Amino acid sequence: MAALTRGYMLQAVAKEHRIWVFKEEEPTWEQSLICGHTVVDTLDHQAMLRAAHDVAERGIPISGILCWDETRIQPSALLAENLGLPTMSPTVVATCRDKLATRNALQRHGATPVHAVAARDTREALRAAATIGYPVVLKPRALVGSNGTTLVTDPEHLTAVFESVATRSMPEVRERFPDPVVVEEYLDGPEISVDSLCWEGEVTPVFMARKHLGFPPHFEEVGHTVDAADPLLRDAELSRALHAAHAALGLSHGWTHTEWRLTARGPRLVEINARSGGDLIPYLGRLVTGVDAALAAASLALGERPAIPLRPQGAAAIRFLYPEQDTVVGSVQVDRSRLPATVELVEILAAPGQELLLPPAAHVTCRYALVIVTGDTPEQCAEALGAAERAVSLVPGS
Ligand SMILES: Nc1ncnc2c1ncn2[C@@H]1O[C@H](COP(=O)(O)OP(=O)(O)OP(=O)(O)O)[C@@H](O)[C@H]1O
Ligand SMILES: [Mg+2]
Repeated sequence: MAALTRGYMLQAVAKEHRIWVFKEEEPTWEQSLICGHTVVDTLDHQAMLRAAHDVAERGIPISGILCWDETRIQPSALLAENLGLPTMSPTVVATCRDKLATRNALQRHGATPVHAVAARDTREALRAAATIGYPVVLKPRALVGSNGTTLVTDPEHLTAVFESVATRSMPEVRERFPDPVVVEEYLDGPEISVDSLCWEGEVTPVFMARKHLGFPPHFEEVGHTVDAADPLLRDAELSRALHAAHAALGLSHGWTHTEWRLTARGPRLVEINARSGGDLIPYLGRLVTGVDAALAAASLALGERPAIPLRPQGAAAIRFLYPEQDTVVGSVQVDRSRLPATVELVEILAAPGQELLLPPAAHVTCRYALVIVTGDTPEQCAEALGAAERAVSLVPGS
């Protein structure tokens, strides 16, 4: 669990609940927030089940399992199910984790149709792309952080990149598929993400983020803007699509993060995550709506309907800073006197000596800083982000 990207969520939950952490290594920054921990393989639900029985034998009651890490939501759902605790069904979570299974489930229910085919090799991918029509998107079926996801313009391009997409791996992703690449129609249009509460089949969008992308033909998330007055929050077509997508997946309870492209044919789902958004989107959401997604997720883990005390106000935005080229970091400096007053948070993400490789070699790990600002409008946020970015400098090392 990363201190910066998820620490604020653990802090919020710790104020109201006692937390026992399962983690692969000894906790550090979490120590003051938790009542205990077990070092265990959190990708292995059987190992976690044994660890949970040990915790219970010490007289510590386990009332709910909470997880917001994409690669661990499936083992966590299995753990909760085995313990008889409230959870999203592991089958539903597995469908969300596999980008092809998601598409097939949507297709079966006629929800947000997107042409998508799994391919085992270049020949199958070329055939799929010819049927779908270029440009297409190639992506690994279960990776995260846009790893390997590539916009492909023609057959030569596809032939050149297929192997690198098919063989891309991440140690924390254990899902394996004989046909590991999804070939998908390119959804042209602005991208948004929606964090929603699902309760008894009712889907309530709580906050919505406009996503800023960079590094084409890859799809790097370089920032997000959340606006309390975003008209999309009241958009009937998007609301219908949200309900249809959740219903198609059988997702009736839980907190979800869905990503959408607003195409000329209407909103089309990119993917559905059975957890709250990453990249500090819930932090922005809390600034703008007053709703704490972490606390809501904790209530859901206990089987309780979360309160959603909406107090929408203003806008908030995050920008991640990337070097202009592959760089070894000398230092990252922040001139605090030049930061606008509306800066909420500036964090340095890269250490001296660290090598920052731009996409596609690396993705989120090539950021050297992040800035969060607030404002009355998205435009004010964009201006403040520009000023804040100019106050942060990356000095190359050697
Ligand atoms: N069919 C598509 N059409 C257009 N853009 C797409 C398509 N599929 C994926 N993308 C782009 O690629 C990004 C990453 O895709 P996706 O969310 O499926 O992968 P991921 O690895 O789970 O990413 P992350 O963990 O960052 O959400 C999307 O946010 C979107 O910008
Ligand atoms: Mg995604």
